[in-house]
Amino acid sequence: MIKSIQINSEEEYRRAYKNSVENPEQFWDDVAETFCWRKRWSKTLEWDFSIPKVKWFLGGKLNITENCLDRHLEKKANDPAITWVPNDPNEETVILTYKELHSKVCQFANVLKNHDIHKGDRVCLYMPMIPELAIAMLACARIGAIHSIVFAGFSSRAIARRINDSSCKMLITTNEMYRGPKTVPLKEICDQALTDCPSIEKVIVYNRTKTTCSMLPNRDVFWHSEIEKVNDTYDAEIMDAEDELFILYTSGSTGKPKGMVHTIGGYMVGAAYTFLNVFQIKPNDVYWCTADIGWITGHSYIIYGPLCVGANTVMFEGVPSYPDYSRFWKIVEDLKVTHFYTAPTAIRALEKQELSFVKKHDLSSIKVLGTVGEPINHEAWEWYHEHIGHKEAPIVDTWWQTETGGIMISSLAGITPEKSTFATLPLPGVQPVLMNDQGNTIEDQVAEGRLAIQFPWPSMARTIWGDHDRYKNIYFSTFSNKYFTGDGALRDSNGNYRITGRVDDIVIVSGHNLGTAPIENTIDEHPMVVECAVVGFPHAIKGNALYGFMILYHFEDTSEKLKLEINDLIAKDIGPIAKLDKIQFVNGLPKTRSGKIMRRILRKIASGDTDNLGDTSTLLNPEVVEEIIAGSL
Ligand code: WTA
Repeated sequence: MIKSIQINSEEEYRRAYKNSVENPEQFWDDVAETFCWRKRWSKTLEWDFSIPKVKWFLGGKLNITENCLDRHLEKKANDPAITWVPNDPNEETVILTYKELHSKVCQFANVLKNHDIHKGDRVCLYMPMIPELAIAMLACARIGAIHSIVFAGFSSRAIARRINDSSCKMLITTNEMYRGPKTVPLKEICDQALTDCPSIEKVIVYNRTKTTCSMLPNRDVFWHSEIEKVNDTYDAEIMDAEDELFILYTSGSTGKPKGMVHTIGGYMVGAAYTFLNVFQIKPNDVYWCTADIGWITGHSYIIYGPLCVGANTVMFEGVPSYPDYSRFWKIVEDLKVTHFYTAPTAIRALEKQELSFVKKHDLSSIKVLGTVGEPINHEAWEWYHEHIGHKEAPIVDTWWQTETGGIMISSLAGITPEKSTFATLPLPGVQPVLMNDQGNTIEDQVAEGRLAIQFPWPSMARTIWGDHDRYKNIYFSTFSNKYFTGDGALRDSNGNYRITGRVDDIVIVSGHNLGTAPIENTIDEHPMVVECAVVGFPHAIKGNALYGFMILYHFEDTSEKLKLEINDLIAKDIGPIAKLDKIQFVNGLPKTRSGKIMRRILRKIASGDTDNLGDTSTLLNPEVVEEIIAGSL
């Protein structure tokens, strides 16, 4: 366990924060020095947001897996690294110690090498929440390959798009995956994707459900047979601090997903530092983050952060409702989980169930609760506090993004004050600012505006894979010399931040970021659709849901069948998570005189807030508004 960088009191936090702003390089030098480097960096930071260029720990050499694994072998070899809970409650929990995980990662690194994967090659992982996913990602990192994990709920077309965007050479998957009572044929989905992925040379298939799947000779091999051919030692590839560690795709406001690129040194320092301090992890704690590793939360706070500090991290393959809604609480009781980190959408879904699901389990082991992914509403916060945290456990409301790599604004559990619905204070090294509509920094303490960050932090994404201009345009062009988050926020008199939500065309549905533009592009492919607009509207459990307005070629066909077809198309092109909750066929969409769809108005209609539509007189076609309101769902 890294000790020296743990903040132990509010006063220490204040001191660390002040120091991190006044002497950022010295501050991060001190943090980074507690890690294991093959060669120390010669320069701490080089940056220029106008290019944008950000480099941390220049000249430093390391391998992140030596920090996650090797350095724990002396004192923690037999301590649990990953505690894996399978989907089926009757299948046994598996504990991988640091020694075992190290050996499996080295073994799989040899498999990758045998299949011609080298430093800098991209490897796509499309897998369920099983230890082999962690092993595969760490094996990539061990040999210096760049992993690109695609959430195993995406469709074959979405996988193909991601594989092709970064020309992945290998795909690792499973024959099938379990999801509650169902199985999902992952290999079959991959096979469909691979009809259109010329860069893929090899596919490694882990047999999770002991059933057969089709295997293409010379391309597909089984995990089990490959690991038998290799030994379990592998000298970690020595990497540069600024070499890429992974690509992770996130939705953009245009059709193309954005491959956010994270580099090794800064990401490692950021993920581990924030993990340790936000959660206040202590030896023997049992930490469980319920996110999927296909998202950034799983990367930073199931794998890299926890393993870097030598924690015991729980990985759960299943879903909260299987075999019933007490599953999470049963796992907490069985494993004596001390730290539980989940998303508001999961809390709301669980809150709606009978309280007896919670009450029948002993949750007294819980010391810290966490939430991430979207603003948490007060009721959900209170329920979490009272029923899961027995009114004692601090709740850390952690605001951050795929792009930030690690937590940016959050209380430190039990150390700095929390405030329901507020993420609270920035972590040391993070300099948030609120911007007004004129693009100026708001100096008043109490204010509301768009959230930007005015100084680099080590774990920030360095670029969008293959498209640095896009990276610049999205994040560094809205406000000069600042990183723009895409979120709105307000600040109270104590400097606490409350995130109010996205201010762009990204909607967070059940904690998943979805760009409305790619969904619209998909809908436009339907031969019956002339034009469409998709917006978010508030939903009691999902946080937001999607509402689509569509103009059809033949207005007569407004059947349920057509709605199903459209949702099917979305599920195939993107994934079931992007399906629309409501579809309304309309004669026209409200447009500005320059022909831009006025989404602000559609958002209001979708939310049922039609009394405050604002000025519609400047519209090209104000008459459609009344019509849309009359037909709204
Ligand atoms: C939102 C997830 C309010 C926000 C780590 C952000 C939050 C987006 C919070 C990033 C929070 C995340 N309170 N909103 N505690 N955490 N968000 O990339 O809108 O999947 O921009 O990263 O989620 O989502 P992403």
